[in-house]
Amino acid sequence: MQINPYLFILPRTPGQIVWDYKNHKQFELNLEYSTRLIQLIDNPKLYNDNHTIDTQLLNAGILTTSIQEAIEWGWDELSKIFHIGTKNIPCEHVPENIHEWSRHYLDHCTEVLNAPTPDDRLSECRAHELIALPKPFCLPEGSLANALLGRKTCRTFTDAAVSLKDVSTLLYLSLGYLHERDNDVDETIVEGLGARRSSPSGGGLNACEGFLLVQNVNGLNPGLYAYHPCDHSLSFINPLPRLPLGQLLCGQHFINNLPVGLFITSRFDKLWWKYEHSRAYRMAYVEAGHISQTFQLVATALGLNTWLTGALTDDQVETLLTLENSAEQPLFFVGCGHSDGQVMCKELKDLLNNREPQQ
Ligand SMILES: Cc1cc2nc3c(=O)[nH]c(=O)nc-3n(C[C@H](O)[C@H](O)[C@H](O)COP(=O)(O)O)c2cc1C
Repeated sequence: MQINPYLFILPRTPGQIVWDYKNHKQFELNLEYSTRLIQLIDNPKLYNDNHTIDTQLLNAGILTTSIQEAIEWGWDELSKIFHIGTKNIPCEHVPENIHEWSRHYLDHCTEVLNAPTPDDRLSECRAHELIALPKPFCLPEGSLANALLGRKTCRTFTDAAVSLKDVSTLLYLSLGYLHERDNDVDETIVEGLGARRSSPSGGGLNACEGFLLVQNVNGLNPGLYAYHPCDHSLSFINPLPRLPLGQLLCGQHFINNLPVGLFITSRFDKLWWKYEHSRAYRMAYVEAGHISQTFQLVATALGLNTWLTGALTDDQVETLLTLENSAEQPLFFVGCGHSDGQVMCKELKDLLNNREPQQ
């Protein structure tokens, strides 16, 4: 008998809350149950099939007979509880096609909009007098301004392929170690931490990495590839899964024909190596956000449209990237392709158009 290794215990008088954070289950134990659990934590061999509490703890999954595979975490417990506790969020139903997704999305929006809206921002309420700013007419005409103005999230893509040259530019400018910045390295920079990207990186660690998902790129076979920022190259990891892309992204099937995407991952062990506090977990996401935005701006500048999501079907994505039980974990996905610029898929629009007028 073993204690489930994915538990944390929260004292809440008069009981204690036992949280199985991996399986998203919570139990409230009274003194009798808590006391027995403490005895079993001290010595799991005391487990007794004839003891009612013991069998109940086993059935609840607080105790387990299965051998638990140790995960290579590379970080502290708090970050592990948060990361694993927010993974594989139970979903009543993952849409299996674009029609199901559209119906589900519309129902969800209706439910949210029927709930009371959040209060106005406090600073908004407190602002008695507004100071008008001059019109931002002096934005430069260059490509950055155009990219900033042109970037938008699109949810329909054409079946046109993306060129390998564009993919190369995208990867180099969003994740590559820039040769153009080789001379930035001076004696203040620790050896091994001299590589620089177009996006800032927490501690100069470049803890974020990327895996390219190729569905329709001229000159590159479909599949998943690891990107190597040091020498700006790819290595093949896996063929595309049998299931459509939307299934990997929590049922968002409007994205099934997206030609190319990037899974942004973070090397938790690298972050922990320099910053021994789970606060650095926040930085992992901030850094991924920088890279995602850069990717989108480069893609926009190349005349492509973009889409992004944090809704990953975690276990499936990890398997595909061969990152199971690894200290490198997928955080975010960003993709691009040729699009007619639509914000929503046709199937959702059809549903909206065919809705009975509300009384
Ligand atoms: C952190 C983050 C997560 C997002 N997740 C999704 C998503 O799961 N699916 C989706 O279609 N759009 C997603 N979006 C896109 C937003 O819906 C979009 O940015 C927003 O509607 C504003 O539109 P814009 O990007 O065209 O300015 C996400 C955006 C951000 C920043």
